[in-house]
Amino acid sequence: MGVFDKILKADESLFKNIDALDFAFVPKIIPYREGEQRRVAAAVQPLFSDRNGKNLLIHGLPGVGKTVACKKVLQELEEKSDDIIPIYVNCWQKNTSYKVVIEICEQLGYRFTQNKKTDELFKEIVKQLNKRKVVFVFDEIDKAEDSDFIYTLLEDIYRKTIILITNYRTYLEGMDDRITSRLMPELIEFKPYNVDEMSGILKQRLEYAFFPDVWETEAFEMVVQKAASLQDVRVGIHLLKDCGDAAENKASRKITSDHAKESLAKRDEFETLRSTDLKNEDKVILSIVKKNSKKKIGELFRLYTEAGGKSVYKTFQRKIKALEEQGFVNLTKSTGEGGNTTIVEYKERTKTLADF
Ligand SMILES: Nc1ncnc2c1ncn2[C@@H]1O[C@H](COP(=O)(O)OP(=O)(O)OP(=O)(O)O)[C@@H](O)[C@H]1O
Ligand SMILES: [Mg+2]
Repeated sequence: MGVFDKILKADESLFKNIDALDFAFVPKIIPYREGEQRRVAAAVQPLFSDRNGKNLLIHGLPGVGKTVACKKVLQELEEKSDDIIPIYVNCWQKNTSYKVVIEICEQLGYRFTQNKKTDELFKEIVKQLNKRKVVFVFDEIDKAEDSDFIYTLLEDIYRKTIILITNYRTYLEGMDDRITSRLMPELIEFKPYNVDEMSGILKQRLEYAFFPDVWETEAFEMVVQKAASLQDVRVGIHLLKDCGDAAENKASRKITSDHAKESLAKRDEFETLRSTDLKNEDKVILSIVKKNSKKKIGELFRLYTEAGGKSVYKTFQRKIKALEEQGFVNLTKSTGEGGNTTIVEYKERTKTLADF
């Protein structure tokens, strides 16, 4: 038998619309996030009556619907108003003020960007945007290497709402006071979904993506439980697709608990790999702090980069903060010539029984 013999023919696929399992797919309805979407809409509302909008900091764990809920509000806004411009920027991809402004130019259809510096480009977009009103969503804001663009927009755009999305509630703590005092955002937390909500969301996705009756209930339940235990819809969607692939590869017309077991096992393996990776990175950072205790965080970051560390400064700051929360280091603020900085001190931990 040839290697392709057992594969279902194209017209026998279990997938009705595989695109619905793409992470960029925005479903028609985003269930269980009505309250959050209403709060986002309320922050934008003043723009309809020519007043300045409110700013928001949206935070929550990965895969809890922050991006999709905000994109949905922007979509609706676009349908409702020609006068309010929605601008969405992912700061993981566009992680400097220059890249952000280029992206905004692109979304506004302004093409004369070549050979222009960041501030010249800002002047151009400010001119255009001040004729109307704007909602900015800066997603994954903690991945931005500088936040000058936020300052510029806060200062120079008259009528706007700025929405920042991050996984970290404490994100603003590391920010320049000049920004936080102007931004004054309202905080919205996206809490993880419970099992029933996870089940509802994945059921909806399943109906978009698969032909009716191809999923056995038990297999679907296994996916729901896994996604709910990790509190991440993205995991659930990935598993739906992976189970579908596993069943197709075996030329099965049903997705059974065996296929689900196979996919879950793959997922567990991936998680183990990821967690050891993370721990190693933290160990490297901690060993640098130990050798250079009571140094400034910027100095430690330089040493970390020299040692081959790949994270950007913001991520490094966050990891240091996490080490503090776990009791490995002490952080103190100090004001010196160069402004405020954080001093990181290695905490000698008292011995415990486990150390002997
Ligand atoms: N309530 C919901 N209804 C339908 N789909 C949802 C819902 N919540 C999340 N999803 C889907 O789950 C996936 C992850 O959601 P999303 O990208 O919005 O997460 P996030 O909170 O922005 O995560 P991260 O912090 O990692 O960026 C997306 O494919 C999204 O469409
Ligand atoms: Mg997101």
